[in-house]
Amino acid sequence: MFTGAGISAESGLGTFRDNGGLWERYKIEDVATPEAFERNPELVLNFYNLRRKQLLESKPNAAHISLNKLSEKYKLHIVTQNIDDLHERSGSKKVLHLHGKLRESKSSVDDSLIYLIEGVNLKMGDFCEKGSQLRPNVVWFGEAVPKMIDAISITKKADIFIVIGTSLNVYPAASLLNYTNNAKQIILIDPKAEQEKGIEVIKEKATIAVPKLVKELLL
Ligand code: APR
Repeated sequence: MFTGAGISAESGLGTFRDNGGLWERYKIEDVATPEAFERNPELVLNFYNLRRKQLLESKPNAAHISLNKLSEKYKLHIVTQNIDDLHERSGSKKVLHLHGKLRESKSSVDDSLIYLIEGVNLKMGDFCEKGSQLRPNVVWFGEAVPKMIDAISITKKADIFIVIGTSLNVYPAASLLNYTNNAKQIILIDPKAEQEKGIEVIKEKATIAVPKLVKELLL
């Protein structure tokens, strides 16, 4: 399973590249790069505080919930580009976050120091145990994606590779499709997806298409 912002859209969390998406309202270089954090940490912290507030007010939708039923018959691994915790809150156990987690902070001098953010806000003056300003534990543009190695090994083992709600615009995440050689089926659920060779495209919203697909796969 490989998911993107589209699976959380019907929980009220914005996507990035749909009309009205986040990257229409904010410039990536202002809020989602290490240089942005260097230049204006407050603006960056507030951008993620806003998204964390929205996340705490949202809940998993029928797509997050129904896909867990697949573990009745399959070994379900979820690789997500999302930094929300809706997969976990829907009961999913094996979730790998390629781009980090919105509800965690990280030391800006030591990547191994990761903390849970209690409540909504991460503020200036919130320091790690080494006395440095905490930053969101998310992967910014231009930063390495350390979990990619694990994501590739999960993808290589997939018999059925289901992609839900991603524009497949961002690399290296989108390159996971190059590692599906052992998959008997590749299924893409996205209302705006184009037909692609070797991929079963379901042009429908996740909350409609995922429960239907799960039912079929459990027959
Ligand atoms: N159900 C299924 N898919 C949907 C729905 C829905 N209800 N609503 C929108 N979509 C689809 C859109 O058609 C689009 O193809 O979800 C996709 C969202 O694409 P993006 O906004 O580009 O989000 P994503 O692919 O997850 O972005 C990848 O880019 O900005 C970075 O780090 C960020 O993880 C993010 C990465």
